[in-house]
Amino acid sequence: MRLIHSGKVKDVYDVDEKNILFHFTDRVSAYDVPMITPIVGKGEILCKFAEFWFNLLRVKNHMIRLEGTDKMLVKRLNMIPIECVVRGYLYGSLFDRYKHGELTHLESFAANLPLASKLKLPIFDPTTKSNIHDRPISEKDILDQQILELNELQYVKNTSINLYNHMVDIADQSGFIIADVKFEFGRDPSNGEIILADSVGPDEFRVWLKSQYAPGIVQESYDKQYLRDWLTKIGFKDQVDMLSKNGNKPVPPPLPKSVVQELLRRYAYVYEKISST
Ligand SMILES: Nc1ncnc2c1ncn2[C@@H]1O[C@H](COP(=O)(O)OP(=O)(O)OP(=O)(O)O)[C@@H](O)[C@H]1O
Ligand SMILES: [Mg+2]
Repeated sequence: MRLIHSGKVKDVYDVDEKNILFHFTDRVSAYDVPMITPIVGKGEILCKFAEFWFNLLRVKNHMIRLEGTDKMLVKRLNMIPIECVVRGYLYGSLFDRYKHGELTHLESFAANLPLASKLKLPIFDPTTKSNIHDRPISEKDILDQQILELNELQYVKNTSINLYNHMVDIADQSGFIIADVKFEFGRDPSNGEIILADSVGPDEFRVWLKSQYAPGIVQESYDKQYLRDWLTKIGFKDQVDMLSKNGNKPVPPPLPKSVVQELLRRYAYVYEKISST
């Protein structure tokens, strides 16, 4: 099989005209920088987690079947070049943008909200899809740039928010909070229908333990945020911010065994808890 795309996380193979194969690798990236140390076992968990959500969520998706433990056969789609982010909490880059007064295109936010505040309602906060750095894009720009027609935008926005709410309910039953999530959609080339694509798992959402949740502090998280937090602690995030001004990226540090093991343990824990509800 021919490798057609080696992404930050997945290797994508050409199968036939209608289908492609996702290989969920053990690669991990953070702050848009691919790490050099693999998280052995991560690919398998992510593949099974994606299968769980695709089976559960009530929306048409691209999954056909799993092939082995870390590969998924999917329908080949024409991807819509935006990442449909839904956020239920003021966290991550949303909090940074809030602090810098950059959220004027979204709904109004009260002043002085603490980090990790729960939003009144989940918001749709799409970004561009870029190899370098995803940037927020307003709904107006999505229409002006003719990425989507108005009815399509409304469909992906409503679907994304509904999917997020459903995932929040499921996670809640096993004691987790899904703070935010990213979906990708594509068009079925045979009829133009918009279908949920890519993957749904802890590389696409932030997940916190309900029992540990407290606004105003950095949350203990059971996803890639653990790695992001470690990278921030060692000063790597500052390097990313500094170099990105000139369009450059820092060299990733090797990950210590303890960080690799803890990351894998967290991925496995969330998968087992949520998928057994
Ligand atoms: N059904 C599909 N048909 C065609 N392409 C798809 C489908 N589902 C997802 N994709 C695309 O396949 C790629 C998956 O690889 P991966 O997510 O590892 O790459 P990536 O480097 O993260 O790319 P990106 O940052 O653009 O998402 C993504 O570009 C994604 O948009
Ligand atoms: Mg991707």
